[in-house]
Amino acid sequence: MDKGRLHGRTATPASLTSSFLAKGLRRRFTLLLLIVIVGIYFGRLLQLTPNSSRSNVRDHREARCDTLGSADDEQPISAHHTYLPNGLLHVNPDGIHPILELVKKAEEEWEKKLDRASRTLEEAVVEYKRRYKRDPPEGFDDWWDFAHEMEVQLPDEYDTIYRELEPFWGMDPKDLAELLAIEETKPDSFTLAKNETHDTHLVTTAFSDPETWEERGLLRGMKEIRDLLDTVEPALPPFRAVFSPHGTANLLSDYNVRRACLDAAGENRYVELSKLPKPARLGFASACPPGSPGRPDEPPVNHSHRPPPRTDRTFIFDHRLSMDPCRHPHIFRNHAQYLAHDVGTTPQPTAAPRFTYSTTALFHDIQLPSFLGWTPETSPRVDDPLWESKTDERLHWRGSNIGMAYTDSTQWRDSHRSRLVSWAHDINGTVNVLIPGYVEDEGWKRVGHGTVVSKALLNPAMLDIAFSGTPRGCDLQYCRYLETQFEWRKNQDANGKEAGNHKYILDVDGKGWSKDFKRLMSSNSVIFKSTAYPEWWLDRSQPWVHYVPIKVDYSDLYDAYFFFRGGLYGEGNHDHLAKKIAYAGREWSKTFWREEDMTVYLFRLLLEYARVMHPDRESKSYKPTG
Ligand SMILES: *[C@@H]1O[C@H](CO)[C@@H](O)[C@H](O)[C@H]1NC(C)=O
Ligand SMILES: *[C@@H]1O[C@H](CO)[C@@H](O)[C@H](O)[C@H]1NC(C)=O
Ligand SMILES: *[C@@H]1O[C@H](CO)[C@@H](O)[C@H](O)[C@H]1NC(C)=O
Repeated sequence: MDKGRLHGRTATPASLTSSFLAKGLRRRFTLLLLIVIVGIYFGRLLQLTPNSSRSNVRDHREARCDTLGSADDEQPISAHHTYLPNGLLHVNPDGIHPILELVKKAEEEWEKKLDRASRTLEEAVVEYKRRYKRDPPEGFDDWWDFAHEMEVQLPDEYDTIYRELEPFWGMDPKDLAELLAIEETKPDSFTLAKNETHDTHLVTTAFSDPETWEERGLLRGMKEIRDLLDTVEPALPPFRAVFSPHGTANLLSDYNVRRACLDAAGENRYVELSKLPKPARLGFASACPPGSPGRPDEPPVNHSHRPPPRTDRTFIFDHRLSMDPCRHPHIFRNHAQYLAHDVGTTPQPTAAPRFTYSTTALFHDIQLPSFLGWTPETSPRVDDPLWESKTDERLHWRGSNIGMAYTDSTQWRDSHRSRLVSWAHDINGTVNVLIPGYVEDEGWKRVGHGTVVSKALLNPAMLDIAFSGTPRGCDLQYCRYLETQFEWRKNQDANGKEAGNHKYILDVDGKGWSKDFKRLMSSNSVIFKSTAYPEWWLDRSQPWVHYVPIKVDYSDLYDAYFFFRGGLYGEGNHDHLAKKIAYAGREWSKTFWREEDMTVYLFRLLLEYARVMHPDRESKSYKPTG
């Protein structure tokens, strides 16, 4: 019995967890003892930690009183949490546990969405006009028939397409054609087209070094798009479009340029390109509304300063808003999408249409669904253990250190993956967490201010988060250095079976959007998702029903995880809710993210794109016959 380990001085999470795993039955007894000691130590901490403020101690005692059944039990707690315009719920310590409320609201929201879905083409047309104040594109009836035949659900929920194409409605199709011609010649792009005589085909490529691209598998995007469109080819309109094989967006928008285009679109006119506002030279902040947190009027933007330490508790209720760095500028410093470019690039003088695989609110790249990372439900993963048979309750993440270059001159330490691994392995100091009490029915319990707990107690026991493989994105010498900075675990088997035994799995972005999410969603586990990319399926899913949304700074991760898993002994867990989300997520993955769903999305996107690019948009709008 190595008691010193518990105090975190010498222990590393790996030594603890791997010894837990590696030793046989005789060690089980040791493990039991260890848990008892952890328990005693933990119990003492709750009351004795010098850092714990008076109010924490008081909360804890009050929670104890409530447990014994005070009069409060009969009365619903009426203190409300605040739903902020930035997509976050601000926790009121006197309210119930916010996740109970978030899950309940999300389930209601999802039911409403399913209930109000159009059942007929006529209903869909009415709904389209209500949402977007114009007629659907020509071919909408074919699209509807195909979507219906493929049993695609939620046929109205394609706001992402609207959001991404709307600025182009304020531009003259003649200007767009000229801008497109320029995009076609820019390095690292390919152009696909369909015309009266030829089905969708490759028109031209502009690759600085085609062989490297081929090698890196990036050209398969071309084939993928054609594969996706294969079944609907006869119904596709003529179009011509430029695609970037890069995983991430890089056509930065200028806020005022975008605003001018959107205003023109709303008023049914075109902007004059020569009269567009001059783009700001503020890097990424140029894409934010002046005066927003991401682009404050005063003081001047300085993204080098670190975000202030957290003083209060928030959870995501609107996942899209929570990813917007204009509302949450810490994302500029916390995610490689931005961090890799320092303060950012110069915005485009106008909006040029181009497709890519992932985008954010700051860019005007148009996103495509992709086969990258997509796994069919028939893959070997379908026999992942059921929730009930999963034995590992630690929060699990494995991945490589991709996302940005690892050199002395980059801020890789703050990037989303490095930060995660450092966070999980930190055993210095304490953290304030919400650990649910020992209460059966917590419906009416106040959530309180949390409890201060030593990280040395929590992290090694509760988290199984590490880099796997060997360092990437570094030169030889720097890779060696990185090997000393982190612990590198063995690669997991290719089909992800090892993760399958975990009840709680974290999914974070890589370089661009996460390629693991789809697979993980099919694994009968609860997926905690932290991302900066509003993906194409976002309107067609419901956070807190299908997955648990986590902020990019991970400040809600402990609390969300402990809510479901409970404390060190599993006390106060919400296993039944976790199980519900795990299975709902899997069902969603099987029914909302099939190849058909991607085809239907891309089909609709191309109908819209072909119309907005057409010199006579009116003639390319849907006219019901009869
Ligand atoms: C259609 O595309 C093919 C191949 O790019 C081209 O040769 C042909 O001239 C195009 N037809 C028309 C009518 O533009
Ligand atoms: C931005 O903040 C950093 C750290 O606080 C500081 O060192 C730097 O001088 C600031 N830059 C400007 C332009 O104010
Ligand atoms: C823990 O904190 C101490 C004192 O602040 C510091 O010297 C030490 O380097 C820290 N250890 C780690 C692993 O960060």
